[in-house]
Amino acid sequence: MKTIITYGTFDILHPGHVELLKKARELGDYLIVGISTDEFNEIKGKVAYNSYEDRKAMIEAIKYVDMIIPEEYWEQKIDDITKYNVDILVMGDDWKGSDKFTYLEDFVEVVFIPRIRNLSSTRVKQDLANPEINKFVKK
Ligand code: CTP
Repeated sequence: MKTIITYGTFDILHPGHVELLKKARELGDYLIVGISTDEFNEIKGKVAYNSYEDRKAMIEAIKYVDMIIPEEYWEQKIDDITKYNVDILVMGDDWKGSDKFTYLEDFVEVVFIPRIRNLSSTRVKQDLANPEINKFVKK
């Protein structure tokens, strides 16, 4: 059995998240998603609109996801890789080259999935605040 793991905040759910989770699950048999807790986001200086419990409930409802764990500290990825016998760690390619992930390549296969349409939770929040925005995101 091939175990995949990925991490994120998954605040305002968008097609980029769903695509990432679908592609991640296709790389193996069991997909674990580490969701940043509200406390960890505070450490990262990130403010989410949805609480951890709400973000977890949304990600849990996605059929590609087999298990959710809270992400609570920076060094946790190494611990999770051992604890859950992870074969592949997946992230969106916005993280390619980041020192937050490069060192993990010594411990596990790391796969970066291309982002679609430059979407992000931040962009959704900004676009919704802009009355000029197109109805559908084209690129
Ligand atoms: N991701 C992706 N494609 C996108 C947006 C995000 O593959 N268009 C990936 C990220 O690279 C990460 C995961 O989805 O692996 C969770 O992303 P998240 O932390 O929620 O990032 P964003 O949607 O970019 O949110 P924010 O604007 O808050 O950073």
